[in-house]
Amino acid sequence: MSGPVSFSRHNQIAILKTDNPPVNALGHAVREGLFNGIRQAEADSSIQAIIIICAGRTFFAGADIREFGKPQATPALREVHDAMTATPKLLVAAIHGTALGGGFETALACHYRVAVASAKVGVPEVNLGLLPGAGGTQRLPRLVGVEKALDMITSGRPISAKDALAIGAIDEIVDGDLEAGAIAYTERLLAEAAPLRRISEMDLPQTSDDVFAKAREKFARERRGVMAPQHCISAVEAARLPFADGMVRERELFNELLTSQQSKALRTAFFAEREVAQIPGLSKDIKPRPIASVGIIGAGTMGGGIAMNFLNAGVPVKLVEVTEAALDRGVAIIRKNYEATAAKGRLKADDVEKRMGLLSPSLSYDALADVDLIIEAVFENLDVKKEVFRKIDGIAKQGAVLATNTSTLDVDDIAAVTSRPGDVVGLHFFSPANVMRLLEIVRGAKTTDDVLLTALNVAKTIGKVGVVSGVCYGFIGNRMLEAYGREAELMILEGATPQQVDRALYDFGFAMGPFAMYDLAGLDVAYAVRESHRDKLPSDPTYYATGDRLAVMQRFGQKTGAGFYKYSAGSRVPEPDDAVQAVITDKAKDLGVTQRTFSDQDIVDRCLYAAINEGARILDEGIAFRPNDIDQIWIHGYGFPVHKGGPMFYADSVGLNHVAAKIADYRKLYGDDYWKTSPLLDRLAGAGKSFADWKD
Ligand code: 3HC
Ligand code: NAI
Repeated sequence: MSGPVSFSRHNQIAILKTDNPPVNALGHAVREGLFNGIRQAEADSSIQAIIIICAGRTFFAGADIREFGKPQATPALREVHDAMTATPKLLVAAIHGTALGGGFETALACHYRVAVASAKVGVPEVNLGLLPGAGGTQRLPRLVGVEKALDMITSGRPISAKDALAIGAIDEIVDGDLEAGAIAYTERLLAEAAPLRRISEMDLPQTSDDVFAKAREKFARERRGVMAPQHCISAVEAARLPFADGMVRERELFNELLTSQQSKALRTAFFAEREVAQIPGLSKDIKPRPIASVGIIGAGTMGGGIAMNFLNAGVPVKLVEVTEAALDRGVAIIRKNYEATAAKGRLKADDVEKRMGLLSPSLSYDALADVDLIIEAVFENLDVKKEVFRKIDGIAKQGAVLATNTSTLDVDDIAAVTSRPGDVVGLHFFSPANVMRLLEIVRGAKTTDDVLLTALNVAKTIGKVGVVSGVCYGFIGNRMLEAYGREAELMILEGATPQQVDRALYDFGFAMGPFAMYDLAGLDVAYAVRESHRDKLPSDPTYYATGDRLAVMQRFGQKTGAGFYKYSAGSRVPEPDDAVQAVITDKAKDLGVTQRTFSDQDIVDRCLYAAINEGARILDEGIAFRPNDIDQIWIHGYGFPVHKGGPMFYADSVGLNHVAAKIADYRKLYGDDYWKTSPLLDRLAGAGKSFADWKD
């Protein structure tokens, strides 16, 4: 047999081994190989059992996602499973790595399952806006019960081999070599004349009716507006039907999801999350620098959070501060965070100490002499940062990567004070830095390719999505946020309330609206940034007028119990505040702003189209490599609903013609200052194109 599935035998056992790197996705050739392998084994009467096993790093990681949306060549995965389940030969799956989605469903179509202890099994389709569509919603509940199956299918979370064994999702954990262990297990089954255990023939364990209603209600709350979890629940509920009917219902529901815009968005995001690590045109000869130790300067809000990322990943950190008090405070906060996680049972006490043991606090920059990467997280002041970089230039070893966590300053200005600007890069973490998945990697004019690649590797090491941005004010994310927030602010002057704007954007799917976000981040921080860049900002008196006024009134948001909202003592729940409405009304009157009413759609359109227009400029200027990069930034840094794909994907889904026409309307209504259509957007809309094909 040629192709990715090989056929070999061990005495009376046939071994079907798939080798389809990188993750043994169940593409057409694999499906055909498995199907033919089963037939070949059946044709040989001396064969009594078949083992399905994979080479390389993992068991099947699922259906081949790249085939979705294209015509499916037969045999379909379900046909392969039908052939497997029906075979009169004893069929055993031997699992290592991650058996995911269609991969785990393939294991469920076997009669028995063994795995190595390090293996994981799961059905993550919900994360792609899908449901397990190859019998998973029908077989898993029959095997492990409805509640456990529902949990796995709706959460998408894989479970360990140990947990899988405990709930009966696998039958044995194999020590040592998987193939040898699987053969021994299969020989034992044959010796015992074990029955062919077809899950499709099992009865569904008793289930109370309210399990489904409760799950629906939970996901309506937790995954607002997202179709897939609800469809998953309906499919599992269909497992109450006879198996064949349940399979029909599963297929109908799967197809509804597969053709939905939500799944398209989530699948695009899956690949985009991986694509962001690719630097266009980079030579394969460029290698990242090894990063085995890190130095962090500044143990404040950001420095402490950044340090935790590395400690979590097992990378030793030297943390440098100017005063003993600041250093002690920073270290104490890190410990407190770990202890809080341990108290919730999410970290072992041992691990708290292990992580703290990797941290070396210091008051001397000399401690940084031998680290591979230095990240500066001191006050946001160019002179202070320049001074810090001059110092580290004199201390850091040759080849060390020198990074700044600046959010608004010019990375090139900072790099210029060193003798090695090629080694300097921006690493813009988002607050809280130990939680937020986004890392904007700022490529200075002189940053070398290997330093950029190193930064992308660092992101991966610490579990972040690293996205490259060129140098400009606000980089990619905050530059677009400036336009988005500007429109939100203008609309409250024009008659919308902060709570209406927030609710409209929350209902669209954002984690929170802009005003709740300002209150969380601190109005003082945003005001200080605007104050330090007034010369570059619009002189228009309506520009961020309310935010500035509230900051001057010392209403800094949650930290002072009052910002765009008020907060009861100890509460983070925003409450509308008449005093804020009075400020807004006064401002609007002073500035002669005409009042009107807004629909929720008006609000969403104005905020998003302003951001998208800026995103198009960012793309045109080469600040972002790809539209998908911009989307990843908004998904992982700004709470954009992932099932809507990010602002650029969203623009494509409503149509760039429509977006450009709306922007032209806004230009007529509100003037040229903020609403000139980006030339790229105009070009694409005129040619009937989308951001997805902007380069074609
Ligand atoms: N189909 C096609 N390509 C896949 C794939 C899949 N199911 N899973 C991973 N890949 C690709 C990735 O895009 C990446 O390609 P690249 O090298 O060109 O960027 C490559 O395989 C390696 O992937 P990762 O970088 O993610 O490797 P990791 O080792 O970090 O992770 C993994 C491996 C845990 C398997 C992870 O890739 C993963 O979670 N994959 C998706 C699993 C999944 O969602 N399966 C369900 C698919 S839908 C399905 O099965 C429907 C069925 O019910 C009918
Ligand atoms: P912070 O004020 O909480 O911490 C700064 C720390 O740096 C202080 O502990 C201070 O003692 C220390 N420090 C000052 N000068 C120093 C020096 N010369 N050597 C060593 N330590 C020194 O500030 P925060 O919020 O942590 O910000 C740090 C940087 O991160 C800034 O550049 C900021 O723009 C950026 N940033 C902040 C975000 C936020 O939400 N707070 C988000 C993203 C980036």
